[in-house]
Amino acid sequence: MELTRLRGFRDLIGADARAMSLVEERARAIFDRYSIKEIRIPVLERTQLYSRSSGETSDVVEKQMYTFTDRDEGETAVALRPEGTPGVVRAYVEAGLDRTDPEQRLFYSGPMFRRERPQKGRYRQFYQFGVEIFGRPDAASDAELLIMIDELCRDLKLPFTMEVNSIGDQKCRPAFREALVQWGRAHWDELDDDCHNRIDRNPLRLLDCKKDAKVTESAPKSLDYLCDECRAHFDIVKELLTAANVQYIVNPRMVRGLDYYTRTAFEVMASGLGAQSTIVAGGRYDGLVETMGGTAIAGIGFAIGVDRMALALEAAGVTPTIAPDAAIISMGPAAMRHAVIVARDLRAANLNVEMLSPERKMKSLLARASKIGARFAVIIGDDELARGVVQLRDLNESTQREVAVAEAARAIAEAREE
Ligand code: HAM
Repeated sequence: MELTRLRGFRDLIGADARAMSLVEERARAIFDRYSIKEIRIPVLERTQLYSRSSGETSDVVEKQMYTFTDRDEGETAVALRPEGTPGVVRAYVEAGLDRTDPEQRLFYSGPMFRRERPQKGRYRQFYQFGVEIFGRPDAASDAELLIMIDELCRDLKLPFTMEVNSIGDQKCRPAFREALVQWGRAHWDELDDDCHNRIDRNPLRLLDCKKDAKVTESAPKSLDYLCDECRAHFDIVKELLTAANVQYIVNPRMVRGLDYYTRTAFEVMASGLGAQSTIVAGGRYDGLVETMGGTAIAGIGFAIGVDRMALALEAAGVTPTIAPDAAIISMGPAAMRHAVIVARDLRAANLNVEMLSPERKMKSLLARASKIGARFAVIIGDDELARGVVQLRDLNESTQREVAVAEAARAIAEAREE
């Protein structure tokens, strides 16, 4: 086939798509309990939105955006969103919420686009489920978000580790930056070209230098440079996590790849995923609303990498069911019409039911019912139609009995509960 999909783009069919929806459904249910409201924002935005917020020197903006020029008069430079945070902040400021109703708890969900080198767990179109909380500068809101993430991972029965760090604020960051620049210069020979560039352009990212992970062991740690306010904030976050029984590790070398973060930064890793194991990441961004033209309102948030969380579910053996409870097999035109009503009645009893095409022989219909994973076949012929019954065939046990539709519904529901 010539018209194949692009590299790094995926088709998700059946069980793969279901695993993604499962993550989204569970996240949505938990977000409801935390009173987080939905926001839907465009996939296409001005390119400038991202350079101003995610950071001119971030990999996302520098190397990974899908950009093009719109054919309007202004020849506006536009980009497919590489992340959700800048769009949400823009929408928040554009709606005037920073002035009229600054405390907002919002979630978004949908595809993001980054032109990265594709590998398992890293795609050029991927899905995020993200949360942004505005107007909460207090440490309790950091802890609340981390408790919520912990709850979600537990709910999905995922083995995971949570790492937290504080990277300071406008007051204490400059000294830390300077210490990193000095360190980078002193360790020039041990760093590769990519990292040489970071020394002046984005020194925090020196901590992500991958050439030899040992090199960064001697690098300065943000925690040693925190001002009193940032330290007190981080201490409360840690204290609350401990009080809530959330297991976490302080990783003093963690920095984030996007520029807007202040104070608390965090990442959650799932086991069994290989190199791309970060399934949730985020942090505080107290200066971002102001940078984007709003008032000085605090912000904090995170995004779930839905693709990766679905892979983690698979690795942990948690596979969502997509098989129906019963397949309906009808023989002959009159029985086929009746089968529609039987299917409706079974569905009304909350059962998942698939009608099979009547155009085949019984043997191949039974094979089809097993193939789609149905536990039962409900068989209807002219004879059953005349007597108001169905043949209920247990495909696991290879047993069959004649029952009324209501009895079939009860037996199928009972087997599902087992
Ligand atoms: P991020 O760390 O760039 O943060 O992305 C968050 C998560 O999205 C990652 O941990 C990962 O699970 C997933 N992800 C990122 N890139 C890819 C990819 N190419 N393929 C598959 N999954 C990917 C942000 O985007 C911030 N906006 C998060 C945030 C919200 N911070 C504050 N509020």
